[in-house]
Amino acid sequence: MDLPIDNKSHIYPHAFSVSTRDRAELLRQTPGIVWFTGLSAAGKSTIASAVELRLHRSGKHTFLLDGDTLRTGLCRDLSFSNEHRHENIRRAGEVSRLMADAGLLVLVCAISPFAADRELARALAGPHRFMEVHVHVPLAVAERRDPKGLYKLARLGAIKNFTGIDSPYEEPAAPDIRINTTQCSVADAAALITQQLCGT
Ligand code: ADX
Repeated sequence: MDLPIDNKSHIYPHAFSVSTRDRAELLRQTPGIVWFTGLSAAGKSTIASAVELRLHRSGKHTFLLDGDTLRTGLCRDLSFSNEHRHENIRRAGEVSRLMADAGLLVLVCAISPFAADRELARALAGPHRFMEVHVHVPLAVAERRDPKGLYKLARLGAIKNFTGIDSPYEEPAAPDIRINTTQCSVADAAALITQQLCGT
């Protein structure tokens, strides 16, 4: 993907008066990014939504960035080619970083199939601000669930480059948390993640 701005461009960030730390102190919370990765139909959005509700009810300021939503707006120009998936995750990483700088606890749900892209998102977030949650489900189970009928279409060849079918998913080798959604309820998963995030 051609980018109009390269490292040699003359961009000089301004030193603004209100810092990330100032914003976080005002909100009385430690900002961070919880990144949910996994196959389509693994349960990423369902679990992230339950986590957000718990955080919200305990007075935390949150925002949930969902892959399907981003792809109707910010990322509407992107396909599911490998190159566009890299760009999709780069944008999600940059936006979540900005939101964390604004003081929020950000929950990101995206298949994010490539380990290098998830590492980029972690690096963008900065030290101690990124928690990777692998929402694991066997492909056969995701395919049985198939809530949007997309696996069926992918098997028929009507959708190309579908993750798990004819496009790869690189499993996280060492995620901060791994949830197996065939063994763990949504409520238990949400409690575990919230506990690890906030200690409550
Ligand atoms: S990612 O691979 O670039 O991270 P993202 O999370 O934004 O993907 O979008 C995944 C969602 O797009 C899926 O939940 C599914 O509803 C839809 N989708 C449409 N086509 C595909 C495809 N080829 N592969 C995976 N998901 C697809």
